[in-house]
Amino acid sequence: MKYYKVFSVILLALLTFCYSSISAQNNRDRKPTNLKVLPADISGQDLRNVMQSFSSALGVRCEYCHYEEENDFASDGMETKRIARVMMKMKSNINETFLKEARSIKNDVVDLNCVSCHHGSPKIRLLEDVLYSSYQTKGIDSSLVQYNNLRKEFYGAAVYDFREMSLINYSHKLTEDKKYDDAVKVLNKNLELFPTSTRTLNSFAQLYQFKGEKETALQYLQKTIAIDPKNRFANQMLERIKSGK
Ligand code: HEC
Ligand code: HEC
Repeated sequence: MKYYKVFSVILLALLTFCYSSISAQNNRDRKPTNLKVLPADISGQDLRNVMQSFSSALGVRCEYCHYEEENDFASDGMETKRIARVMMKMKSNINETFLKEARSIKNDVVDLNCVSCHHGSPKIRLLEDVLYSSYQTKGIDSSLVQYNNLRKEFYGAAVYDFREMSLINYSHKLTEDKKYDDAVKVLNKNLELFPTSTRTLNSFAQLYQFKGEKETALQYLQKTIAIDPKNRFANQMLERIKSGK
């Protein structure tokens, strides 16, 4: 008797699940009622392909732009959906004017797509700007933890640039703000990842020069010159410091 009860509860749950996923599917496949950019008579398959291409170009799920829970794909309630529409018009416009013109000059010019700019992320921000903005709200240590996390998630994905310049540029922003200790942390992090980065060593030198610590600045320039004797930046800066300019 007991087993029977358990069985019927499971059966009921299964039926409810099937029913709701079928009705979700129906809702999804329903004729679209609110297309303002795509052709009104687009086939269900083509619409799905376009939507999947949006999701993968931005690295998001449908619910980033739609109230998927309520099965309401027609609603324009979400600002991301309304922005996506602007983006669709921008993309066609660029393709039909500028890229068409470029193609009349050189015929293998490719079309612009969402992924050409988005590379798998809805936000298009330079890594140093992302770090700098979280620095301003949460401080240096948390911005470096964020660097590690973004590196884990996006390394090699062409969303952010993990080459040596991003942390260097970030440190320059902190140096400009006279946050020297924090800039040092950032440059040390970079040196861990790029032990022979002369640009990092040169940035240390600049930082210490700004701070008025000429001796330390000179030490870093010498480190650069030990790795790359002809380094223009380091040799010029060395000359300037030595001649007292
Ligand atoms: C980046 C935002 C974005 C993402 C992600 C996205 N969509 Fe859309 N979707 C739109 C926009 C914009 C429209 C309206 C297009 C137009 O006006 O021509 C739309 C329209 C639709 C419509 C037609 C609704 C109607 O009745 O007019 C359906 C269905 C739909 N999307 C399903 C999906 C599904 C399923 C996914 C996930 C695979 C998805 N969308 C992901 C932006 C998005
Ligand atoms: C020429 C480059 C370019 C192309 C092509 C492009 N976008 Fe964008 N998109 C941007 C920029 C720049 C932003 C602003 C990003 C930011 O503030 O970080 C943006 C922002 C967005 C946003 C808002 C994201 C948010 O959360 O604030 C959505 C949604 C979006 N784009 C969807 C699309 C879709 C869908 C396509 C293809 C139809 C597309 N974009 C094509 C450059 C582009």
